[in-house]
Amino acid sequence: MNVAERLGLVNRPRRLRSSAAMRGLVRETRVNRDGLVQPLFIVDGKNIVQPISSMPGVSRLSVDAAVRECRELDDAGVKAVLLFGIPDFKDAIATSNYDPNGVVQRAASAIKDALPHMLVIADLCNCEYTDHGHCGIIGPDGDVDNDASVELLVKTALTYARAGIDCVAPSDMMDGRVGAIRQALDAEGFIKTTIMSYAAKYASGFYGPFREAADSTPSFGDRRTYQMDPANGREALREVALDIAEGADIVMVKPALAYMDLIRRVRDACDVPVACYNVSGEYAMVKAAAQRGWIEEERIVDEMLTGFARAGADIIITYFAKEYLKRNA
Ligand code: PBG
Repeated sequence: MNVAERLGLVNRPRRLRSSAAMRGLVRETRVNRDGLVQPLFIVDGKNIVQPISSMPGVSRLSVDAAVRECRELDDAGVKAVLLFGIPDFKDAIATSNYDPNGVVQRAASAIKDALPHMLVIADLCNCEYTDHGHCGIIGPDGDVDNDASVELLVKTALTYARAGIDCVAPSDMMDGRVGAIRQALDAEGFIKTTIMSYAAKYASGFYGPFREAADSTPSFGDRRTYQMDPANGREALREVALDIAEGADIVMVKPALAYMDLIRRVRDACDVPVACYNVSGEYAMVKAAAQRGWIEEERIVDEMLTGFARAGADIIITYFAKEYLKRNA
């Protein structure tokens, strides 16, 4: 008797792995190529391409350079960009954020003029615009004042919509901001401007390189009174439910890698599209290990993005979007 007979072996899962064609036939998950979003950092000035040392391959771009980059992204098959503004002028109340002539507003109009079909999403937050680096206005108690900060976000969201942005993505974690933004947009007739809310955004060490890129490290304290405690999962579902009730069209989980359980739980708990943000620290770790020859970058990236999709992400925001689409054309 051979082994199979002895064991009565009927089920052989390896049969379905026996060739590339067979594996393709039964593959359960594919990354949604139309759901990859490339973040871009926009600065004042002209013809500026300023590499970010902790994010190899990512640069801060002036508006003209961002338009050129968007043409390349378009050629690579990237359908959506997420804009972050890094203005020259910062103050305590984020004045540059709601400047109709601000970097994000100008970049959005220029990109939409050049490539009307490119979806332009704008991150909506104050931390890149305040001199203290917090996501809102500081109240008398030294903490970020929720309602005053929401007023600011609303003001800025309107300037974004007027500049032609397709989607605003509030990332500040103030309570009630989605409802306030929706109301203000609708009141001005921007009923088609979508809201993608950073619904479950954690106070995470994985944002380190971003804060170098955006020059937004808080000058005192940290973000733990507004961003979520990494230990909490149930609370994420509550945040998501509140944002949907307030009018969020898309909800996001951020970061992605250490929060895959939440991508799955959020996907199962609601019926709006779910995005995840493969953040700067996740990008930097892959790049750094690959540069040392410790991991195979392309394989790791494919595996990560597939993992996000398998966990339930419909939309993946990633600094790897362009490279991934070019390679998997
Ligand atoms: C703004 C914002 C941050 C990120 C996206 N929007 C930084 C933060 O909250 O400190 C992080 C993105 C990344 O790390 O790639 N509030």
